[in-house]
Amino acid sequence: MTPYEKLLLENKAWAAEKVSDDPDFFNRLANLQTPDFLWIGCSDSRVPANEITGTRPGEIFVHRNVANMVVHTDLNLLTVLEYAVNHLKVKHVIVCGHYNCGGVKASMTQHNFGIINKWLRNIKDVYRFHREELDAIADEEKRADRLVELNVQEQVMNLAKTSIIQKAWKTEQRPQLHGWVYGLKDGLINPVFEMEAGIHIDNLYEFDDL
Ligand code: CO
Repeated sequence: MTPYEKLLLENKAWAAEKVSDDPDFFNRLANLQTPDFLWIGCSDSRVPANEITGTRPGEIFVHRNVANMVVHTDLNLLTVLEYAVNHLKVKHVIVCGHYNCGGVKASMTQHNFGIINKWLRNIKDVYRFHREELDAIADEEKRADRLVELNVQEQVMNLAKTSIIQKAWKTEQRPQLHGWVYGLKDGLINPVFEMEAGIHIDNLYEFDDL
């Protein structure tokens, strides 16, 4: 059996197990999804949103990219955000990074990664905003992990700068924004940053005609 055939076989076993536990499982989910959470995480294979949070299908709406970025020109991210906030009416948006993130570490090098450079540029900018704090950390691993935390915080603030979030805050007092960092070594999530719905941000970024 090839590795991909094993995936299909495992899928059959999983579906059968779900039905045996709860005969209505797929019927219920096929008609409706009402997740309370939007998860914006890293594409890293070791950080599966549902598994590490003990959630089931239907509970978390998921978007993942390299280094869990919220880039304001990324049509993919914006489409997910618009749909989750305005159609699914999620109550929480979670940006979840992870320590020892390859994308974050790559952004700290001077290596030319080709087209990936354009994505990593956004993380380099986060480093530049916090250069003084980061440069003062001698240990390279610790410096990278601190950048992971600061990057998560910055991406949460990027969410707050979108008209999608600002409008939902103004009209419905949701969603709450969370910045979390997952530890590959212990499996634990470290909450590092939070923004309550409606909190004021730098007024340069606040729209007054939502
Ligand atoms: Co990563």
